[in-house]
Amino acid sequence: MSKIITIWGSPNSGKTTLAIKLVNRLSKNNNVLMLSTDIIAPPIGSLLPYIKEEIKSLGKLLEMVTLTQEDILKNLITLKNNKNLAFLGYRQGENYKTYAEYTVDRANELIVNLSHLADYLIIDTSSIILSDILAQASLKLADEVIRLCGSDLKAISYFKSTIPLLADKSYNLSSHIKIIAKINDIEPKSIITNHYGNIFCDLPSTKEIQSQYREGFLLNSLVEKQSQRYNQSLNKLTTKITGEIEQSKKMKREKVKLAKPDKVVEKVKNALKLPKFIKKKEQDDYE
Ligand SMILES: Nc1ncnc2c1ncn2[C@@H]1O[C@H](COP(=O)(O)OP(=O)(O)OP(=O)(O)O)[C@@H](O)[C@H]1O
Ligand SMILES: [Mg+2]
Repeated sequence: MSKIITIWGSPNSGKTTLAIKLVNRLSKNNNVLMLSTDIIAPPIGSLLPYIKEEIKSLGKLLEMVTLTQEDILKNLITLKNNKNLAFLGYRQGENYKTYAEYTVDRANELIVNLSHLADYLIIDTSSIILSDILAQASLKLADEVIRLCGSDLKAISYFKSTIPLLADKSYNLSSHIKIIAKINDIEPKSIITNHYGNIFCDLPSTKEIQSQYREGFLLNSLVEKQSQRYNQSLNKLTTKITGEIEQSKKMKREKVKLAKPDKVVEKVKNALKLPKFIKKKEQDDYE
């Protein structure tokens, strides 16, 4: 069972960017899976343009009558030069009408099954939470939720409107890791920090990230001096995330029904050339 980290926050605050930076960092020593629930602007194919999406899509898994591990593996996007990392998301051009509606149970089932495939499951959500069943489940099942708080008035307005929608205690709002995003010299940092309260760290705005984003190189390290603080915050966050999983949270996920183990999984793993990425599945997981 891996650790589930969900990234949620205000629109355009750098959630997907942070998710990619985080999975890249964690994949140096672990198997990592990044799930993007964003169907408004599916990010994987656009931000990592050299990745081949082929016919793979998260939507297929959500609408299937029965979810098998074979189907999950078939829809994971892998990289040639980093076997520790895989991606799952909607494809470019898909939208909320492409697939049939799915249930909360299916969303839970998929997340728990994905969490068995890697050491870390990092989930990138869009800011529109209410209509996104998978994002809601991701917030509830996460061991840690990173709340990315944009440093402008629009972000403050977003949280004022959205926090009341997440009042149910299963969202664990008070335990979110709050990070201020895209801090620059123009924004009054101390006022923003006071407004959000209890901030874990901040991520500065840097031109290096903007150009990596534009050119499809977000999986590269940040090397310029201007990005030093971003790297420091990323290190701090990584250290927190790699800490112990709270037992109570683990038990919460274990209650969710798991898909049956698939006999052909070994064959599929070989066919997909994923030997390093996929962890050995334990029979206990299904009992
Ligand atoms: N630290 C940063 N410094 C400068 N620009 C950044 C930073 N992080 C993200 N950006 C820029 O902000 C824009 C949005 O980034 P990103 O797509 O990661 O945000 P998001 O929160 O995932 O957006 P959405 O709400 O649409 O899902 C991009 O142009 C990206 O280059
Ligand atoms: Mg995004």
